[in-house]
Amino acid sequence: MEPTTLIPSRLTFIGGGHLAQALISGIYSTSAWKDRCSISITARRSAHANALKEQYPSAFVTTDNLDPAIWSRENTQHLGAHILFICTRPADVPDVALQLAPVIKTLDADARPTVVTMCPGISVKQLQSWLPKDTPIVRSMPNTPVACCQGATGLFPSSDAHKRVESVAFVLREVSPAVCILSEESQLDVVAAISGSAPAHFYYLIESIISAAASHNLSPEIAQSLVVQSCIGAGFLARDAGKPIHRLREEVCVPGGSTEKAISHMARHQFPDTVATAIEKSLQANREMQNVSRRDD
Ligand SMILES: NC(=O)c1ccc[n+]([C@@H]2O[C@H](COP(=O)([O-])OP(=O)(O)OC[C@H]3O[C@@H](n4cnc5c(N)ncnc54)[C@H](OP(=O)(O)O)[C@@H]3O)[C@@H](O)[C@H]2O)c1
Repeated sequence: MEPTTLIPSRLTFIGGGHLAQALISGIYSTSAWKDRCSISITARRSAHANALKEQYPSAFVTTDNLDPAIWSRENTQHLGAHILFICTRPADVPDVALQLAPVIKTLDADARPTVVTMCPGISVKQLQSWLPKDTPIVRSMPNTPVACCQGATGLFPSSDAHKRVESVAFVLREVSPAVCILSEESQLDVVAAISGSAPAHFYYLIESIISAAASHNLSPEIAQSLVVQSCIGAGFLARDAGKPIHRLREEVCVPGGSTEKAISHMARHQFPDTVATAIEKSLQANREMQNVSRRDD
C-alpha cells in the first residue's frame, strides 16, 4: 500500500523576515492552503509584528515564540500536523532552538512539530544538541521565488524525520515546483550556493544587460520588459525542451553570428571560472555559518 502523506494543519514561522514572507505569500496565494492550515508568524520587534499583521490579516502574529496559541494541542495531535519553520538568520538559531526546547519536550512524540530550518551551515547534529532528543528535524533550502509559487527547494531530513519529510515536501511543492530530497547533508550547503543564491545571480545578469542596453539608448523599461521575459522564456525552454542546455545555447549561437561573438567574448574572459569561483565563495561562507554559538557562551 502507498504511504499516505501526512497533511499538516498548522504552520508556524519563527522570524517573519524576507524568506518567511516569500513562503507565506506563496502559500496564501494558493487557494488550497489558505483554508487548510492555520498560520502563525513571530517577529522580534513589535513594529515588525504590526507590519506582518497588516500584510497577513488571516495569520496569527506575535512577538512571543512561546505564545500558547502556537503551542495549543488543538488539531496537532496527529503525526506531522505541525510544521515549525525556523526562519531567523543562522546566528539567532541556537537561542531560538534552546528557547523552544522546553515546550517541545512537553509534547508527545507524534504531536511534536517537525522543525524545519533554512540556514546554510547549521547541521542536524547542532540542532539535535539544542532541541530535545528525537525531535524530527528537516533542513531546507528554498529560494525567494516561492513568493510567486516558482521556488526551488532542497530538503534533508534527520533520521528522526523520515516519516515527516513528505509532509514538509507536500507544503513546499505548492510554492516550489522543484523540491529535491537530498541523500547527504553536505549537499544542502551546495544547494544553498546554487539555487538559494541563484535568483541573485540571475538578477545581477539582468541588471548588467539592462545597463548595457541603456548605454545604447534603449530605455530601461523596454530593456527590462524584454530581458525579464527572455529569462522566463529561457527557463521554460530549459525545463521543457528535453534537450541538453548547451544544445539550447548553440541553437541561439549561429556560427559566426552576433550571439556567438558575445559568448566567445565571455568564454575568453573565463566566465565559467568566474561563476565557479563565485559559487565556491558562497559555499565556503555557507559552511562557515556552522560557527554559531549561544549568545551567552
Ligand atoms: N533571503 C534569501 O533569499 C534566503 C535564501 C535561502 C536561505 N535563506 C536563509 O533563511 C534565513 C532567513 O533569511 P532572511 O533573508 O529571511 O533573513 P531576515 O530577513 O533577516 O529575517 C530574519 C527574521 O528573523 C527574525 N528574528 C530574529 N530573531 C528572532 C527571534 N528570536 N524570534 C523571532 N524572530 C526573530 C527577525 O525579526 P525582526 O526583524 O523583528 O528582528 C527577522 O525578521 C537565513 O538563515 C538565511 O540564510 C535566505
